[in-house]
Amino acid sequence: MRTLVKEILNKEGEIIELMGWVAVRRDHGKIIFIDLRDRSGLAQLVFVPSNKEVYELANKLRSEWVIKVSGKIAKRPKGMENPEMETGLLEVQVESLEILNEAENLPIDVYSDGRDIGEDVRMKYRYLDLRRPRLNSNLKNRAKIINFFRDFLVKKDFVEIETPVISKSTPEGARDYLVPSRLQPGKFYALPQSPQQYKQLLMVSAFERYFQVAKCFRDEDSRGDRQPEFTQLDLEMSFVKREDVMEVIESMLIETVKNLYPDKKVQQIPFPRFSYKEAVDNYGTDRPDLRKDKNDPNELAFCWVVDFPFFERVVDNNEARPELVEGSHSGPTGWTFTHNPFSAPIPEHMDDLMNKKNIGDILTTQYDVVLNGFEIGGGSIRNHKSEALEKVFEILGYPIEKIQANFGHMLEAFKYGAPPHGGIALGLDRIFAILFNEPNIREVMAFPKTGDGRDLMMQAPSVVDKQQLDELGIKIKNKEQLINKEQSRS
Ligand code: AMO
Repeated sequence: MRTLVKEILNKEGEIIELMGWVAVRRDHGKIIFIDLRDRSGLAQLVFVPSNKEVYELANKLRSEWVIKVSGKIAKRPKGMENPEMETGLLEVQVESLEILNEAENLPIDVYSDGRDIGEDVRMKYRYLDLRRPRLNSNLKNRAKIINFFRDFLVKKDFVEIETPVISKSTPEGARDYLVPSRLQPGKFYALPQSPQQYKQLLMVSAFERYFQVAKCFRDEDSRGDRQPEFTQLDLEMSFVKREDVMEVIESMLIETVKNLYPDKKVQQIPFPRFSYKEAVDNYGTDRPDLRKDKNDPNELAFCWVVDFPFFERVVDNNEARPELVEGSHSGPTGWTFTHNPFSAPIPEHMDDLMNKKNIGDILTTQYDVVLNGFEIGGGSIRNHKSEALEKVFEILGYPIEKIQANFGHMLEAFKYGAPPHGGIALGLDRIFAILFNEPNIREVMAFPKTGDGRDLMMQAPSVVDKQQLDELGIKIKNKEQLINKEQSRS
């Protein structure tokens, strides 16, 4: 039966079997030392010439070969202990060796922190890059935190519900990824920029508390804190005010740090709160970095920003928020939404929304949560009455037919007993990057895209066969991009 490396600590004197990779090989005189790596750690294997057959096989071993050994666990001789290694007082005196698979020389070093290796080669060999201890532990810690969130929410009566990925466009301010339909030629699904509409519809379905670890897709340029495909912890609650949603998130974040990162310190509890105006007036940004010592990796300065303007004018050369200019969501009125078209205004401004008055002064119930200068989440209380939601789309200048075609299902759903509701989504990749002291969210994702949106390992995006396009009724304007199946076969 297989024993894991970490389990050998209390098995001195026993004969055990280990499986894993050759991490390091050292020859001292005639003795061969191998550090064997499995998912739990490193153990030193010792091969001596007296066990001739095994010794000769061991002589062939190279880095990253996959092996199975059995042997006796013994104390290392005095002076040979390695206090840096968890199993550094012990070694395995190998009695039998089986090579499960050989490995060619790896194209990248997988033991360094990898920061000086070019991105192209790291991404092409991402499956090897992930052997790197730093990335390996990033992904394991990511899973731990997601489990913690899940437990936390389930205890509070939230139901985890999956929503579709091939669906319809929901405006969140970015471009959609489109998926052509074969059965409905000429029609397209859109990958969700977030599960926004579905989660609100689940409130109409009377679940009251929903959450999901949701993949979101936005066709926008990548940056250090932005990927075309990223993960949200998305939730929605019925019969709540904004304080209730903020309280769930704030307590969940504090509990997570306390339980999983006791060395880190949340700078201020409760999280300080600023209006959008205060934030911009005092810090020049709506995501202030409140850390006292910006060099301290253990300082976590959370804050909330509230009372954002609901609408803003689209300016053609809006450099600060290019998505406003790029997005297709503003109508001829020149107004666009700053955050989320499904948000309700603050209660005092509901009359102005219904009368389409003082539009630029209407404040939304939006709340953003900020950590060390990064926006790590945002949400709002929603308009749960169709008349109010319709007014938002009117202000954006959508013609009535477009409102009906795009949002008719929401307007109709709200007529059948929609409860007051609100929610939030956390950008998980950003949170993990900050907690793991990584400068870029790519370092906390298993298979991220490069800056120009490519997957260098899978070679995506890629050209497709003409036959596939024909089935979808799609013609590529630039013929050179097309691979004709017949041509590629000949
Ligand atoms: P929003 O668009 O603010 O809200 O997204 C929520 C959070 O997701 C993160 N985020 C991203 N992370 C990585 N790459 C990206 N391209 C990216 N875009 C956003 C941010 C952001 O705060 N449906 C609403 C939520 C709601 O109202 O409930 C929404 O998606 O950390």
